[in-house]
Amino acid sequence: MAFLLHYLFITAIISAVSFLLHRSSRHRRLRLPPGNLGLPLVGETLQLIAAYKTENPEPFIDERVRRYGSIFTTHVFGEPTVFSAEPETNRFILQNEGKLFECSYPGSISNLLGKHSLLLMKGSLHKKMHSLTMSFANSSIIKDHLLVDIDRLIRLNLDSWTDRVFLMEEAKKITFELTVKQLMSYDPGEWSESLRKEYLLVIEGFFTVPLPLFSTTYRRAIKARTKVAEALSLIVRERRKEYERGAKKNDMLAALLAGDDKFSDEQIVDFLVALLVAGYETTSTIMTLAVKFLTETPLALAQLKEEHEGIRAKKSESEALQWSDYKSMPFTQCVVNETLRVANIISGVFRRAMTDINIKGYTIPKGWRVFASFRAVHLDHNQFKDARTFNPWRWQSNSGISCPGHVFTPFGGGPRLCPGYELARVELSVFLHHLVTRFSWEPAEEDKLVFFPTTRTQKRYPINVRRRNRSFS
Ligand code: HEM
Repeated sequence: MAFLLHYLFITAIISAVSFLLHRSSRHRRLRLPPGNLGLPLVGETLQLIAAYKTENPEPFIDERVRRYGSIFTTHVFGEPTVFSAEPETNRFILQNEGKLFECSYPGSISNLLGKHSLLLMKGSLHKKMHSLTMSFANSSIIKDHLLVDIDRLIRLNLDSWTDRVFLMEEAKKITFELTVKQLMSYDPGEWSESLRKEYLLVIEGFFTVPLPLFSTTYRRAIKARTKVAEALSLIVRERRKEYERGAKKNDMLAALLAGDDKFSDEQIVDFLVALLVAGYETTSTIMTLAVKFLTETPLALAQLKEEHEGIRAKKSESEALQWSDYKSMPFTQCVVNETLRVANIISGVFRRAMTDINIKGYTIPKGWRVFASFRAVHLDHNQFKDARTFNPWRWQSNSGISCPGHVFTPFGGGPRLCPGYELARVELSVFLHHLVTRFSWEPAEEDKLVFFPTTRTQKRYPINVRRRNRSFS
């Protein structure tokens, strides 16, 4: 609540200015997408937050689409914003990144990420760094190099499970350890765990007002960001010395140190921070929600078990998964797709119009914010039959349904397409493999999904676990 009050105070000032702008004669001459700017100052922010704090936030977009069509104007988080709920417009927005639109993060997030973060980079530097990140997480690197650590670290974590675990917590620990290993070849230990604790504080700061005077959470986040940066700088300095002595490692940090650009320590640290943020919440939430949805859909869980028992039956208990095993998990990929579709961790992306943009007979004025809603498309009954039901079978190749690339976009698209999309899929698949072949479980308590400020279950999804006898070998 305190956050909300602080937030409203700041947005009131920003809103007053944007409201005046909106009423200016220039905007009255333009044909803006229809919609409602809500109350003076707060716009429709409170309605949006109230909707996304429930298990069913859909009415917020559904009602506006019904009234105004799939491109509409609203006023949220301090600014008039054009929402797109249709695949073609979303594609147009994503593909025109850097030409007609540019990415736009709230001040709290950009300050805490650091100015050299990939998420904030623009122009040719962004292009170059995006492809460097892609090359570090592509299929052949995962196959030859990362898969073995993914398998080992997931097993190691699952070995420690007894009786009751909070799945969301465990999943976060796993994805953090995996990312630290992939970025800088550090195995989990006290160092990574204390870094993770600081990290959690940084992420909490993302959803506050970026004014240290008003928000304790934001003050704490800045302190934590400094500690994270110090810890990472130490590693970067050590590794730079090693590199100059001719030592070579096969990780993202090595690629940054070896590049022709001679990045400073600060640039490298910001880059690493962004990658840790990008892969952490997203992958761990999908891990948790895949298990939640499977638990609620016993037929799908049974089919998934069968697939993984078949793979494990050909191996000894301790044998690591190979790339060929990953490639023989078709139903797992259906489960991953369906979880991404229904849960929509990144419900859409914000962009800012770099110039007046004409689209579908309307004009989005220069400087206005737009939101390409993936969630609205993924849960649209015109795009997916029974769109709001978890149904992994819809993705089976024999289902007779094909889904165009611009309709299913959990990883975004265009120049900012998620560089970790394959890595996330592999991590999720390996996790599901070890989970279903080694454990059975049931929810320890009823737990609900909420979508604001991030997608999560309210109680961190507690489950009671039992180890399985290996009867399928
Ligand atoms: C299920 C897991 C994941 C989901 C749903 C996801 C989703 C997304 C989406 C939608 C974007 C586009 C943002 C935009 O257009 O503004 C994005 C960007 C990004 N993702 Fe992921 N992601 C996931 C996992 C990962 C992982 C494991 C990594 C680690 C390598 C990663 C790294 C990034 C980075 C660095 C960007 C920024 C790209 C840029 O701005 O150029 N993501 N992700």
